[in-house]
Amino acid sequence: MSGPLTVLRAGAISFRGNPFHAPAEDCFTYEPDALLVMAGGTITAFGPYEAVKPTLPEGTAITAFPDALLCPGFIDTHVHYPQTEMIGAFGGQLLEWLERYTFPTELKFADPAYAQRIAKVFLRELLRAGTTTAMVYCTVHPHSAEALFAESERFDTLMIAGKVLMDRNAPPGLLDASIAQGMDETEALIARWHGRGRQLYAVTPRFAGSSTAAQLEAAGHLLQRHDGLFMQTHVSENLAEIAWIAELFPERADYLDVYAHAGLIGPRSVLGHGIHLDEGNLCTCHETGAALAHCPTSNLFLGSGLFRLFETQDIRRPVRVGLGTDVGAGTSFSQLMTLGEAYKTAALRGNRLDGLKGFYLATLGGAHALHLDHQLGQLAPGYAADVCVLDLKATDLLALRTAQSADITDMLFALMTLGDDRAVAATYVAGRRVYERGRTGDPFRYAADA
Ligand code: GUN
Ligand code: ZN
Repeated sequence: MSGPLTVLRAGAISFRGNPFHAPAEDCFTYEPDALLVMAGGTITAFGPYEAVKPTLPEGTAITAFPDALLCPGFIDTHVHYPQTEMIGAFGGQLLEWLERYTFPTELKFADPAYAQRIAKVFLRELLRAGTTTAMVYCTVHPHSAEALFAESERFDTLMIAGKVLMDRNAPPGLLDASIAQGMDETEALIARWHGRGRQLYAVTPRFAGSSTAAQLEAAGHLLQRHDGLFMQTHVSENLAEIAWIAELFPERADYLDVYAHAGLIGPRSVLGHGIHLDEGNLCTCHETGAALAHCPTSNLFLGSGLFRLFETQDIRRPVRVGLGTDVGAGTSFSQLMTLGEAYKTAALRGNRLDGLKGFYLATLGGAHALHLDHQLGQLAPGYAADVCVLDLKATDLLALRTAQSADITDMLFALMTLGDDRAVAATYVAGRRVYERGRTGDPFRYAADA
């Protein structure tokens, strides 16, 4: 073991398989009284207290969280940090909402100091919600990505982010000066940030409505030029949007084909929404390893539609799906709140998202969607020591409700129905406690100070 040990004692839940595809009992580990041992940024031991305690050096300090549940840090597979301050903008579906609120807000990021201020707020909102990894859209300005990565590096969080690429249908201040310049700026950010510490780069054409075919094609070429790059964009979110994309790209079979034709669909491609994709599109996602980001609070807020979560998990052609908050169209940074809305969305389609399936999606499912499930999303030796500590008595109502829980499935369901950032007692990143609810003064600590 390298470095000092950080040891936590509490209940714990972790997944090793997908409960949509296998009997639930084969997919998870629940320890009512667990010890989690972390060193050098990774988990070195995890198991029942009685089994792990004797393996610790004499006198090792143990931080105990009574009435708490440890789980892997939540993974948000789709979120826009520049939209943090315009969360909850009233009225209008997607295209009107973009014009009226989103683009004016993103124009403010021309000022690097403003970008830095919002990046700080954003990282803290993620950590307050127990989210330790996110796939993040920045604005068209390269310094917006710079600000996000720099702040993430201070917390040592694993963030995947990119400056958006846009070359039409937005205010001039939000368009790349030219396709070549947008690609050059992206290349420079990749050289500076992709694989630096825990930071990873996502080539980010915003959506087919704001990129020409030529820009998408250039993005597809760039994607092939570096190992391990990600790609993020939006697809089939809104019916008016889909009709408009069909007009913009009459030569393509459908919305997803616009991206596939440009070489943008493959492993580590994460497509926001995909509410209205058809069976053939889902087969394409399955075959290519591309993932969908399910963003229920956003889909309900904008009135975009009901994502077909259970259909995506059809065992004959399962599609990788992660959970996304999609702030600022989404209405909360909390994956617990997001799961509550995912439950209601599934219910309106005649399905029931139970606590186990829900927590799988928010942890290991998200890691699987990102092709990072070998290092993120489990409480197990060798995995990243990114951990969320959930307080089962965070509110009087949650205490009352969880006291009645007969089993872990119900306890998780109570958390995803009633929980939000108040339920997060602490967040650990790479083994360091970077957030502690209620700590006097600043509840956040950068990695170097934690
Ligand atoms: N499609 C293109 N841009 C956006 C965005 O910022 N938010 C959402 N929800 N959809 C989009
Ligand atoms: Zn989005």
